[in-house]
Amino acid sequence: MAIDVPFVDRGGELEALVRLVERGTYIPVFLYGPEGCGKTRLLQELVARWRGDAILVYIDAVEEERVNRAVLVGGASIAADALAALASIHPVGRVLATRIQSLVEAIAARLALRGRRLALLIDDVTSALGVERIEWYLKYLQSLAETLAARYNLESIAVVATTSEGVSFERVSRHTYARPRLIWNLDEKAAIELAETLGADATTAENLYLVTGGNPRAIIDVAVSHGWRIDEWVEDVRLTRVEPAAAELMARGLTREALLLAEDPDALREEPDEKLMEAYRILLQRNLVMYKGAPLLHGGRLKPEPELGIGEYYAWQMPVYRKLVQEALRG
Ligand SMILES: Nc1ncnc2c1ncn2[C@@H]1O[C@H](COP(=O)(O)OP(=O)(O)O)[C@@H](O)[C@H]1O
Ligand SMILES: [Mg+2]
Repeated sequence: MAIDVPFVDRGGELEALVRLVERGTYIPVFLYGPEGCGKTRLLQELVARWRGDAILVYIDAVEEERVNRAVLVGGASIAADALAALASIHPVGRVLATRIQSLVEAIAARLALRGRRLALLIDDVTSALGVERIEWYLKYLQSLAETLAARYNLESIAVVATTSEGVSFERVSRHTYARPRLIWNLDEKAAIELAETLGADATTAENLYLVTGGNPRAIIDVAVSHGWRIDEWVEDVRLTRVEPAAAELMARGLTREALLLAEDPDALREEPDEKLMEAYRILLQRNLVMYKGAPLLHGGRLKPEPELGIGEYYAWQMPVYRKLVQEALRG
């Protein structure tokens, strides 16, 4: 992103993360939410602002080249040469995400880690490792937490891994070694604040909230790449994200079922049916819908908002997807 966007809102989420880091947890928190809702930014803000006595280690699992992007350390200044030694690893983020122990050892060689609090924040794990390895990975994180706590006699350890893949949530939610937590798009007030900060007038900001559901990446994309032409952005989303999904749904004879889910994503729960489930799976794999029933990171549950396509248990990741699916399938 060429422009620096001021950080808005997320006070509750930041506080929840601070509490988590200060208390520690052996069970990794598996933080999931829509693509572009701000998971990476949230973790990076936490690290950048960190003044507590814990050491925070952030790993961007999808960063391939630049080690100074793949690893951020909060709460301690770590000599550049400690990380430079890792610079020849490729793809650096993914490899480090699976060899956290070596990374922590490299850090511990420069910092007094013994008896401290440690937090590991691993970002975008499903994109980097693939959904097939996600259960293994969370299990690895959980046992790694125990190993590191014992080895360095840590006061506490906390582990957070993030994903945008609804499918990986379903995999992980079958187990007790991870604690799924939801983060959603910005709420109306924050979304409007963000749009206005970027230069939108009040009407544009409100319209943008209604199509993006407060997704900050989408808001920034409309502002920066599309010069506030919302229709142009919607057309882009239609061509790149929704048409291929609509074609698959039609080819499989799931038009009616997808339209039911567009009407009400909780239809899956209310009138369970094989074909409805099949339509849901297609939309889930394409990151257009997801399960939203897990507790929010900062407590409580995300409230249903039918006009945005958010039900009690299931939701469209952005309202625009739901509207475009309806248009594509109604013909
Ligand atoms: N709270 C926020 N305030 C301002 N901009 C934000 C906020 N959260 C995310 N963004 C911006 O939105 C874009 C997408 O956020 P990102 O953290 O990459 O999403 P995710 O990791 O969930 O896919 C980035 O440009 C990021 O800087
Ligand atoms: Mg991210």
